[in-house]
Formats: sequence, C-alpha cells, structure tokens
Amino acid sequence: MKVVAIVGSIRKESYNLKLAQYVQKRYKDRFELEIVTLNDIPFYNQDTENDPPAAVTGLKSKIKAADAVLWLTPEYNGTVPGVLVNTIDWLSRVDKVMNGKPSWIMGASMGVLGTVKAQLHLREILFSVGVGSPLLPGNEVYVGACHEKIDAEGNLTHEPTVKFLDMVTDNFVNWMNKQAALVASK
Ligand code: FNR
Repeated sequence: MKVVAIVGSIRKESYNLKLAQYVQKRYKDRFELEIVTLNDIPFYNQDTENDPPAAVTGLKSKIKAADAVLWLTPEYNGTVPGVLVNTIDWLSRVDKVMNGKPSWIMGASMGVLGTVKAQLHLREILFSVGVGSPLLPGNEVYVGACHEKIDAEGNLTHEPTVKFLDMVTDNFVNWMNKQAALVASK
C-alpha cells in the first residue's frame, strides 16, 4: 500500500515533519510512506488552475498514484495553517484528485490540546463537497505538548503515544483493506 504524507508546516525543524518521518520508519512494513513538504506550492490562483505550476501537478500525480493521504497538521491560531488550506484548494480543482481518496489525519502542536481545533476544521474541509475525501472514522491522533514528546532526532519518546499510534495504524490498515475489498466486490 502506498500513502502520501502531506506536512502542513514548511519549517525545517517541524515536529509534524518529524512525526511523519517517525511514522514512515516505524510502520515501513505496513505501508510505503512518501513524505511531501509544501515549500514549493505557490498561492492558489484560479487563472492558472487548468495549467498549474509544476509543483502542483507533481503533487497531484503522487496523490493519484497513492492509495491514501496522511495529513499532518500543526495548529495556527486555532485552525489549519494557510499553506495546507492553500494546497487543498489546488487539489480540489479541475481533476479533483482527493475525490474518493481516503484520508488519515494526525497533528502535533505545543499546546496541550494538540491540534484539536485544527483537525476539526481539517476534517470538515476534506469531507466537503468540493474535496470529497473519505476520512478514517473514529481515530483522532493529537500529539499535544509535542516538544516534550518528540526528541531532536525525531523519536517519539512518549510511550503511551507510541502505543496509541500503533493501535491507530492497525485501524488505518484494516480500514484500507476493507475499502479495497469493497471496491473488489463491485
Ligand atoms: C502556533 N502554535 C499554536 N499551537 C497550538 O497548540 N494552538 C494554536 O492555536 C497555535 N497557534 C500558533 C500560531 C502560529 C502563527 C504559530 C507559528 C504557532 C504553536 C505551534 O503548535 C508550534 O509552533 C508547532 O511547533 C508548529 O508545528 P511544527 O512547525 O513544529 O510542525
């Protein structure tokens, strides 16, 4: 199974990037994770949506070839960071590559609530009519106080969070297998 991880922070030392790298390494036997950062994605512009910049077409191709998308979002002022919303705007147009593509969400922030508000908004956006992505139900991964749980090398050092992530990953893989079986039975 191929999964594309989209990281909603473009800073070099991003905890969300480190979390993506941790997931990539820890679950490498469960799925292949390609991590994408959004540094090169320009502002969405309706004038160019039919012939978008190369960074956008490249991302769209990766998503088309993937079985699912893992979104890793920080929380900025109680919501989804602009770079992430901007990217979703591109993805929601023309060939609508997220339509029907399963999504899985997690997020890390320094606040104790760990991206609760950002994820609430992200779920609403991804499930909107224009985007149309089915969301892994019933599993919410909030890594609050992330600076105390992810070390400089990118290891998740908080054992309860690791255990929880193991369980959610099982649920994600099972959910994806069920989706595949449903498609095969049609
Ligand atoms: C933040 N941060 C933050 N944290 C949080 O829990 N709730 C919030 O609403 C905000 N708001 C916010 C706004 C802006 C503009 C910045 C720059 C930061 C702190 C945030 O959790 C912290 O910077 C994380 O480290 C961001 O994620 P990355 O970049 O490490 O992936």
